Amino acid sequence: MNRVEGLDKVTGRATYAYEHTVPGVAYAHAVPSTIARGRIRSIDTAAVLAIPGVLAVLSGDDPPELGEDVDPELRLFQGRTVAYHGQIVAAVVAETLEIARDAAGALRIEYDAEPHDVRLRPDHPGLYRPETVNPGLPTDVEYGDVAAGLASAVVTVDATYTTPVLHNNPIEPHAALAVWEEDGGLTVYDSTQGASADRDAIAAVLRLPPEQVRVVSPHVGGGFGCKGTTRPSAILAALAARAAGRPVKVAVTRQQMFDVTGYRTPTIQRLRLGADAVGRLTAVAHDIVEQTSTVREFAEQTAAGTRVMYATPNLRTTHRLVRLDVPTPSWMRAPGECPGMYALESAMDELAHAAGMDPIELRVVNEPDTEPESGLPFSSRNLIACLREGAHRFGWDPRHRDPGVRRDGRWLVGTGVAASTYPSRRSAAQADAAIDGDGFVVRIAAADIGTGARTALTRIAAQTLGVSPDRVRVEVGDSALPRAPLAGGSMGTASWGSAVVKACEGLLKNGEHGTGDTTEDVEADSKLARHAFGAQFAEVRVDVDTGEVRVSRLLGVFAAGRIVDPVLARSQLIGGMTMGLGMALMEGTVVDERFGDFLTDDLAQYHVAACADVPDVEAVWIDEDDPHLNPMGAKGIGEIGIVGTAAAIANAVFHATGRRVRDLPITPDKLL
Ligand code: MOS
Repeated sequence: MNRVEGLDKVTGRATYAYEHTVPGVAYAHAVPSTIARGRIRSIDTAAVLAIPGVLAVLSGDDPPELGEDVDPELRLFQGRTVAYHGQIVAAVVAETLEIARDAAGALRIEYDAEPHDVRLRPDHPGLYRPETVNPGLPTDVEYGDVAAGLASAVVTVDATYTTPVLHNNPIEPHAALAVWEEDGGLTVYDSTQGASADRDAIAAVLRLPPEQVRVVSPHVGGGFGCKGTTRPSAILAALAARAAGRPVKVAVTRQQMFDVTGYRTPTIQRLRLGADAVGRLTAVAHDIVEQTSTVREFAEQTAAGTRVMYATPNLRTTHRLVRLDVPTPSWMRAPGECPGMYALESAMDELAHAAGMDPIELRVVNEPDTEPESGLPFSSRNLIACLREGAHRFGWDPRHRDPGVRRDGRWLVGTGVAASTYPSRRSAAQADAAIDGDGFVVRIAAADIGTGARTALTRIAAQTLGVSPDRVRVEVGDSALPRAPLAGGSMGTASWGSAVVKACEGLLKNGEHGTGDTTEDVEADSKLARHAFGAQFAEVRVDVDTGEVRVSRLLGVFAAGRIVDPVLARSQLIGGMTMGLGMALMEGTVVDERFGDFLTDDLAQYHVAACADVPDVEAVWIDEDDPHLNPMGAKGIGEIGIVGTAAAIANAVFHATGRRVRDLPITPDKLL
């Protein structure tokens, strides 16, 4: 089955946020702060208002009245304090985008700068223990006696891994078009991963009843988490439209995206593992340091994967944060599991090497009977099956144990493996289904951010109704549709699909119309540990003269319940793996400590993997029949693909070269 909206997309008919047209539109452009901490002394609005075509200047000189109990990043123009470099401190509204940008560049702002601190370090005096980590998980988990477990171990690993600031880079940067209706209502065409929550947040910031706000987002050009929460661009469009008395468009530039739409926190992760003579873990300690901003706390759940992976009598995981003068970190594909499993799965490889064991066998002997942290049974867990299937397909055996011995001309060649995991959650959603001509229409405020959600839901509806998919039309991407959770946490299909099945079953029963609300079903979900698992295999070639790393093969084998649509699933999984390759070898935002800003803020300097970087990437899955999940029997697949990839590549680099790089990305300089 092709993507429902595929033809619209390849012919340019699919309308993205910035492309919606309304008469009389004006344009706003944001002005970022040029200091990392301090106060605004003065803003010279008069000079800019004199530029022909300029309609208004927004700034803290005339603060709008905004809701209080909202994300402080959305409370624009509320004062003169600057909390980070690139924070939106003013904006210009003008007749054209060009005038708005030009005038924004001409706006003179005087600052009183104060000393800033943007450097994450393990001994930072400001480190503190957050009350919980996202999404409400315990900050620390400890059972047994880690010190005793380490002391009794035959083999130990004690290593610290670091990951840099990483930035989501969807092809479509954030954009919004705000239109105030005559009745006081507001319509925002926004680039968002969830119209319902976006509508609620916009309404709360602007102090409007939610039913007076509508968010329209039929097509979204990627998100990876950075469009999972409302961003200042949507609020700016609404405020600018009110100031100008006209509809206003805001396009966030690629450079601005780096400051105002979130990023993945850098991490410093100390891993201590101990194992007995046969490789069974006697202790696991994973202690994490990461950053947040002075604006709002964001506490990434970096140890989440470590709490579900391996059997051990003694476990400790901790998270510590420090508030720096930086933008607030946010979600980026597999927040928590992705950086955390890089460290854990690298350490497991180090342990296997130290113990003289095959890294697959090390994982097999540490397979737990129940979820280590909670003691709950798994709804299904097929990690070992993934490792075995991957080993077979990849040609893992026979593998030379010694690193740095396989050579092909100028290239050292090595292979690596790592496990992956990601939770399988769902949350409450609503949908309705109705007869529509000689077909059916299904309506739900789901989001298709390029994943093919619309197509997956069409299949699910058609299957439930027992008709062919071409007789079903699915409407998504509009807060006026039945309420639905966002496309995030790999729970879109599970959450929306459950409501769609219910609505279609209702239609079959009633004959004309059906509604689905899964609030009670979700509340009644049995207490089980629900996670997808996978195994990632990498083969790398390292140039002995330049240190250049090439990934010649990537294979992922996943166990993620029932796969709803094989074409879409493969795209999600290899997309995640490709992003993981970028994390391993090239992605990393450079922080300029002097000026407190991000130096690499475009795609010329922030390198994401391109086609030539990924000559051979394949994802397959093993069938998994899990009756404990949802009517589709599906686990999420949007994020697990990126989990473990970086470790598999780093482990392969070690196997190729004998060099263990514990600081991502593995750039050539670190291998010379
Ligand atoms: Mo994903 S980072 O949960 O949008």
